[in-house]
Amino acid sequence: MSNFVSEIDRLRSVTLVVKDLSESIEFYTKTWGLHVVHQGEHLVQLRARGQEHHVLELHQGSAPGLHSITWGAESQDDVKRMCERLKGLGIVIHFEPHELNDHSGGFGFAFVDPEGRIHQVVSGSKTHTPLHIESLADDACPTQLSHVVVNSLDIAGMTDFLQSVLGFKLSDSTHKMRFFRCNNNHHSIALADFGSVSLNHVAFEMGSWNELMFGVGRVKLAGYPLQWGLGRHGPGDNIFSYFLDPNGLVVEYTAEVQQITDPSWVPGTPEQWARPPERMDQWGFSSQPSDTIKKAMSGQVGLSGKISA
Ligand SMILES: [Fe+2]
Repeated sequence: MSNFVSEIDRLRSVTLVVKDLSESIEFYTKTWGLHVVHQGEHLVQLRARGQEHHVLELHQGSAPGLHSITWGAESQDDVKRMCERLKGLGIVIHFEPHELNDHSGGFGFAFVDPEGRIHQVVSGSKTHTPLHIESLADDACPTQLSHVVVNSLDIAGMTDFLQSVLGFKLSDSTHKMRFFRCNNNHHSIALADFGSVSLNHVAFEMGSWNELMFGVGRVKLAGYPLQWGLGRHGPGDNIFSYFLDPNGLVVEYTAEVQQITDPSWVPGTPEQWARPPERMDQWGFSSQPSDTIKKAMSGQVGLSGKISA
């Protein structure tokens, strides 16, 4: 990854706190298309159809939201070197590098960002053979985690942290958001100015627009209406479709995320990405986001995203 100074080479997984583990497992398997790879008394790990051991971990808890973000690194040396580098910069270390006794294994450490989020960096986790999908109508399944968007009250400070400390690159800025990459994907994390420090949404990559449509159809038929989309975003050029999970957390199926391979890429500015308010996406096709999802994206949880039977 010669174009990057970060030891982090990818977004591996997110851990969410959910209020009802059973209900959330039901949603993320039967409706969202993931597969359980490990289940404990108070947590579950779910895989997509790519190699990662899991892309989503759910913890039973009273306050739904983001628990932590897990990044991948290539080697134990990268993990150790990054931890030492962060310590030298005065970053709070949540735990020191060690062999993880987590079910997915690997060697990792964790740090705390300036707004209190916990990030793990792990190398050598267990992996799987990619899943073969027989029938998209029945089994459309994300390939991997695409990105996580977090709401920030200090966009400038977090921008500096992501660039100067983690070594990520800014891909684009809009009036409300900044998009950062740690590999060729246009963004693995984005910051959003929605008036709180909270989770905005978690996006799962679908293998194609066709797979995305099968997934969207399955979620809608399960009683979870599309809250925003379908459309094609400007920054990132990705197709988007947003839903609320049973906790009121926002989840996205996305596809065709822009790949940035040009080392001389110049980030787009808010002025360049300005658009008329009625135009929600490049196509001019997407509806406005629902009032419910606007609240949920700003960090309000517990809203219902399901049509009651
Ligand atoms: Fe997104």
